[in-house]
Amino acid sequence: MDTSIEKVQEDNLDLSIINKAGQILRDGGLVAFPTETVYGLGGDALNPESSYKIYAAKGRPSDNPLIVHICRFEDIYEITESVSDDVKRLADIFWPGPLTMILKKSDKVPKQTTGGLDTVAVRMPSDKIALAMIEAAGGYVAAPSANTSGRPSPTTAEYVIQDMNGKIEMILDGGAVGIGLESTIVDMTSDTPMILRPGYITQQMLEDVLCKVDMDPTMFDIKADQAPKAPGMKYRHYAPKGSLTIIEGKDIPVIEYINQRSAEALRENKRVGIIAKDNSACKYTSGTVKNIGENADSIAHNLYRILREFDDEEVDVIFSESFENDGIGKAIMNRLLKAAGHQIIHV
Ligand code: TXA
Ligand code: MG
Repeated sequence: MDTSIEKVQEDNLDLSIINKAGQILRDGGLVAFPTETVYGLGGDALNPESSYKIYAAKGRPSDNPLIVHICRFEDIYEITESVSDDVKRLADIFWPGPLTMILKKSDKVPKQTTGGLDTVAVRMPSDKIALAMIEAAGGYVAAPSANTSGRPSPTTAEYVIQDMNGKIEMILDGGAVGIGLESTIVDMTSDTPMILRPGYITQQMLEDVLCKVDMDPTMFDIKADQAPKAPGMKYRHYAPKGSLTIIEGKDIPVIEYINQRSAEALRENKRVGIIAKDNSACKYTSGTVKNIGENADSIAHNLYRILREFDDEEVDVIFSESFENDGIGKAIMNRLLKAAGHQIIHV
């Protein structure tokens, strides 16, 4: 299949391109598009055939449900059974934006879209290209991240092209995304709302609105024998090709440890990559050092790009510093730990 790649500007939307994308989606085809979190791989959420195509293009297990993206709050009533005051409150404050809410689904949403579940994940993204495309598509776009299953989510159109060229009808190139990590997912079907995947909207921000919000206890503890509540969280996502180890501790011992391990690996003729904060990047003596920035926003923004670059550079061994596990840092460490298959060393 020929994939048409179209450049679009968020502040100067070319409606003829957006309408073409909308038509492809209405006809059951697939379009990758930017959102403020990561690029999505969109299909008509109400068409079961489109969901099959999404799973096939990603190589994703079909028990892993898709997020339905909307562009107007009132459309939520079509695809869900009931909308509580808490849901309205969260939508009022955080939509459009990087928050996904799990609700009981209505009969309109096919089970193929929800991986067989009777709940549906709903999100209204803030990216203007995404909003216009969803409207042109008829209002309901199912979209997982636009990566091949198991690779880091794409943060630029180039990464979408690497994974999806030839497999889908169109890619909308809106440049690099802002946030760089996927949306926060909160399950609104339980008595106390529960975060199933941490993201840019933190537990504290949600609790400022709802009083109490829990975290899925399986998220950070892989020894827990319960399965995570978001089916996708059980897969080893975001895995780089090289073996990744996180080193946690005070700055100086971490730097010394990584320098020693990378020198050993280089002696074994391995290619070594190091993920370091801005302040320590210059203190590493060997290997390819990638500066991930200093504050949480820049670390979130750069993480997936760096993991993909190490793949492209065929790095065998990656050492990463550990980052603050607080606020948006919870989302960063959740993704980094998954990428490392939970290999973490304390020094
Ligand atoms: O930021 C994002 O959320 C991006 C952009 C494109 O919007 N999308 C995204 O989708 O990250 P995806 O498919 O890569 O991740 C969706 C996650 C999966 O872990 C899936 O299992 C979970 O959401 N999920 C979807 N529907 C669910 C449901 N009904 N109940 C529990 N978990 C659900
Ligand atoms: Mg994904």
